[in-house]
Amino acid sequence: MIIQPRTRGFICLTAHPDGALQAVKNQIEYVKSKGEIKNGPKKVLVIGASTGFGLSSRIAAAFGSDAATIGVFFEKPASEGKMGTAGWYNSAAFEKEAHEAGLYAKSINGDAFSDEIKKETIELIKKDLGQVDLVVYSLASPRRTHPKTGVAYSSVLKPIGQSFTNKTVDFHTGVVSDITIAPVENEEDISNTVAVMGGEDWKFWIEDLKAAGVLAEGVKTVAYSYIGPELTFPIYRNGTIGQAKNDLEATVPVLNDLLKDLNGVSYVSVNKALVTQSSSAIPVVPLYISLLYKVMKAKGTHEGTIEQMQRLFADRLYTENGEVALDEAGRIRVDDWEMADDVQAEVAKLWNQISTENLSEISDIEGYRKEFFNLFGFEIDGIDYEKDANENVQVPSIE
Ligand code: NAI
Ligand code: NA
Repeated sequence: MIIQPRTRGFICLTAHPDGALQAVKNQIEYVKSKGEIKNGPKKVLVIGASTGFGLSSRIAAAFGSDAATIGVFFEKPASEGKMGTAGWYNSAAFEKEAHEAGLYAKSINGDAFSDEIKKETIELIKKDLGQVDLVVYSLASPRRTHPKTGVAYSSVLKPIGQSFTNKTVDFHTGVVSDITIAPVENEEDISNTVAVMGGEDWKFWIEDLKAAGVLAEGVKTVAYSYIGPELTFPIYRNGTIGQAKNDLEATVPVLNDLLKDLNGVSYVSVNKALVTQSSSAIPVVPLYISLLYKVMKAKGTHEGTIEQMQRLFADRLYTENGEVALDEAGRIRVDDWEMADDVQAEVAKLWNQISTENLSEISDIEGYRKEFFNLFGFEIDGIDYEKDANENVQVPSIE
């Protein structure tokens, strides 16, 4: 069938398999162009492997250091005239390319928060890889059903203490307007968000993997966080999601303790603000990203998820002398170029000026919009969207 984008708010309901394949190929080419990641990971589990930072982590590991990868994600294959999700097509593309390159790649589709999927993953590691030497934790979800209690938690994106008013953009229409977001009404909004996006599930994974004996001596695990500029603090770092990120970061010493006897180590990497399915759902942030892109592209320091993850692996996690550079709070920082003083000063200046009228001139809203559609396999160079696409693409390792 001919597949066109169909959007509802910040969600795209359709996805293009050929575009997804080309986008994955482009990421692979980038990683190859950077050369081998020396002393890189060899057997890798990526939890949240189908889109965004997780997909790029998987590609960086596989094509940067010939790693065997197992990817866990929650996606939908095509069914009854409905197409699959973008992450499904990305994973189909990734496995196809990995297998053609002679690399082991298998995937598990299901709820990573559940005990069942953890068990299934452990069985697969035991059967095929024996052990893994890197575990990437890159889940982003609005919901989590707790595996021990069955309680279903929903996260919220709200400020804490007082309401927050700032500029925001509808990137489909290009209208910049003020948005006011009411603060949390109760502690539960905070604790629910921490239950979904905090560190407990990462800890459950590492505990289960360790107990099963499938973590290799010297294993590393990394999860992703965000800080960003002061202008988004009320909605991000000081808001409900920020409390979850604090919890995630506070899990690092707990995991380090757990991994001590394996000489293993855990990290949080603070990544750059980027267009992904998750970040497009946060108010204010897309407008900030549009200005950030404009400034960083002009300076030649702009990166996408694959540039970020290749740099994370090559320059942080797997350095030649084995040293991992950390900030004063013990975190890896690949948001360093985003947070550079000159970049932030320019973004802040533009933020004060930005309006509907000058949006296309002083921001990279067009780049934001294009990248958003790219996430779903649309507007990818070299793809003929007038041609029939086979929406029925399968992930080879999933029956
Ligand atoms: P994303 O939405 O692109 O990826 C989320 C992944 O989680 C997908 O593979 C999805 O299938 C998987 N997933 C969601 N629920 C699942 C479930 N129940 N079971 C199994 N898999 C499930 O998100 P993105 O942006 O790559 O986020 C990954 C991490 O990076 C998050 O912790 C996020 O906070 C963090 N981060 C994101 C930044 C951004 O600007 N996008 C910046 C810095 C950090
Ligand atoms: Na991800």
